[in-house]
Amino acid sequence: VTPKVLLNNPVSLVSKEMNTLAKNIVALMGSGHPTLNRVTGYYFEAEGKKVRPMLVLLLSRALAEIPIEERNRITVDNTDVPEDPVYSKPPQSLLFQHPAKSISPLHILHGIKPLNPLTKGPEPLPEDFDRERGILPKQRRLAEIVEMIHTASLLHDDVIDHSDTRRGRASGNVAFTNKMAVLAGDFLLGRATVSISRLRNPEVVELISNSIANLVEGEFMQLKNTAVDSDLTTVANGTQKIPPPSPKLTNPTHDYRVPVERGAVFSQEIVIDTAFDYYLHKTYLKTASLISKSCRAAAILSGAQETVVDECYNFGKNLGICFQLVDDMLDFTISAKELGKPAGADLQLGIATAPVLYAWKEDHSLGPLIQRNFSLPGDVERTAEAVAKYEGVKKTRELAYEYRDRALANLRAALPESDARSALEFLTNSILTRRK
Ligand code: FPP
Ligand code: MG
Ligand code: MG
Repeated sequence: VTPKVLLNNPVSLVSKEMNTLAKNIVALMGSGHPTLNRVTGYYFEAEGKKVRPMLVLLLSRALAEIPIEERNRITVDNTDVPEDPVYSKPPQSLLFQHPAKSISPLHILHGIKPLNPLTKGPEPLPEDFDRERGILPKQRRLAEIVEMIHTASLLHDDVIDHSDTRRGRASGNVAFTNKMAVLAGDFLLGRATVSISRLRNPEVVELISNSIANLVEGEFMQLKNTAVDSDLTTVANGTQKIPPPSPKLTNPTHDYRVPVERGAVFSQEIVIDTAFDYYLHKTYLKTASLISKSCRAAAILSGAQETVVDECYNFGKNLGICFQLVDDMLDFTISAKELGKPAGADLQLGIATAPVLYAWKEDHSLGPLIQRNFSLPGDVERTAEAVAKYEGVKKTRELAYEYRDRALANLRAALPESDARSALEFLTNSILTRRK
């Protein structure tokens, strides 16, 4: 039986690791440029949900409860993460040695600070560390890497979505400009990649690298022709020459379900079902992929058997889809103030998420509005009314419950009973009640 205190606070099991997470990430991110450091560190200053690292850490803790004889992969990888090398060396003239001594003119001009000291791997394992039951150093680092990748994607996402707030304050693009937000995201991604490779596990490198590619592919699937149009508007208002229009996706089935016979006519039901498949696949790529692949990576590092590794992967996948369904629901139901980021944004951005697709199933006349990305006056309002009338939000919640149930079944199949598993169950359930 799980102690009540634990059920109320699943984090307590991994609080030590969660407390050092931000500090370790800052060490992994340090550059020689103070402004770059400010932008990359910006989203870590405000309290995020940190769902991804928490999942990796709790799952690692729960995996450690599997008896060592049942972990028939080659070995449990409990070696330390190798220390990171000096990332880059600026020329001697830029190095700041002593306030009174060699300060170069460029140092003053650009405010270049001394390089960060060597970034160390996680603190050495304590003497009494239980090598079979503790969270492994590489799993700790994995949690940090996943949060870095997620943060990089948020910096880019806020540029793409023209968002002006995140975590209750100005978003990175607003606080520092689009250019800096994009570059800081790229830098974070670069540093995360260094750290992944230093886990010295080719399978994990492949998984996490793939999840980065998946994030971009998911975002691209979501663009359809909205971004092309908004970019065109931007350049049209400026002095740049307007590029030729890109080929437009005339309906969501285009390019998705192959083979599509040219000129074939589909019933509305088939078009809507296909749009739903497209939406779920996009959701997997943009949100669930990073979560599921990091869960899989945590299991691989623990030396778990293939079936356990697969269940952990499916757990992350189902939980990730559930998470994004709730996100898409909250966009319709919660105020911007409570969310700490823009609300009602998806329709404004021309994106049809689950609540709209459910309404479309009932009211086929929404098709053209979805197709033109709600771009005509009144489209957004009419769609929002249809979502309310046909209970799109309620139906989305029911779908999220289905994914939650699958995720819980995966957990029970993968892991023996333990406090950590109960904490994971608690976390999985709490995704449905979250309000931000
Ligand atoms: C938030 O979605 C955004 C994502 C889950 C992924 C964003 C991915 C990219 C921008 C691709 C680039 C990726 C990297 C790794 C640099 P949302 O806009 O629905 O949620 P929000 O309401 O929190 O903004
Ligand atoms: Mg966004
Ligand atoms: Mg987005």
